[in-house]
Amino acid sequence: MGIKMSQIIIAPSLLACNFLAINDELDAFDNIPNLWMHLDIMDGHFVPNLTFGHPLVQKISQSTLHKLDAHLMVTNPEFYINSFKNYRIHNLTFHLETIKDPLDFIKMAKKFYPSVGISIKPLTPVSHLSDQVLKEVDLILVMSVEPGFAGQAFLENTYQKLNELVSVKKSLNAHFIIQVDGGVNDQNAFKLIQHGVSVLVAGSYLFKNPSDKYAGQIEKLRGNVP
Ligand code: DX5
Ligand code: ZN
Repeated sequence: MGIKMSQIIIAPSLLACNFLAINDELDAFDNIPNLWMHLDIMDGHFVPNLTFGHPLVQKISQSTLHKLDAHLMVTNPEFYINSFKNYRIHNLTFHLETIKDPLDFIKMAKKFYPSVGISIKPLTPVSHLSDQVLKEVDLILVMSVEPGFAGQAFLENTYQKLNELVSVKKSLNAHFIIQVDGGVNDQNAFKLIQHGVSVLVAGSYLFKNPSDKYAGQIEKLRGNVP
């Protein structure tokens, strides 16, 4: 596998947290290592849901020391390259389905963000990612549910896509890491890691039945607890 379990990044999806107590929710992660706080940005157009915009992203960035991972589920991700640049976002991911020239987007976004990701929806095949994009991008987000809502069931065709990505990564000698988002829980996390995933997004699994807020659950996702 080539990666230590402790190096697996868990990305709590704040979409599923208790928004009315978001400061407490963020505080609960303070002492847990290797997290990215996952921000689902939706525009009510690319997906049939709306989440949060600039003011809240800014507040969140001031309320946690963890890295921020913005997942843009919006029709015009290029609007956000500039407007999000002061929120110390570590990784900015856009959807392949929204962009004519993904390579251009990656090059522009790389000026402001340490990591730029590209996401594919469940019905978008890996083959829609060109070799050049695969060589330039830092992260590939494989959606394992239709984007738009937390709490959906994990789609099993995800594993096939992961196999394809791992093999193309090797053949191109590419550097991207692989993230999975949607329906991730303690039952499928280990298998996902075995399939080459190093960033696991988790929403409902963490926030809907919380225990010990949230260290034990995160260790379970990393496979450190039976
Ligand atoms: C869905 C979002 C996810 C979502 C994950 O469109 O991108 O990040 O919040 O939630 P769970 O883990 O509940 O599927
Ligand atoms: Zn997401």
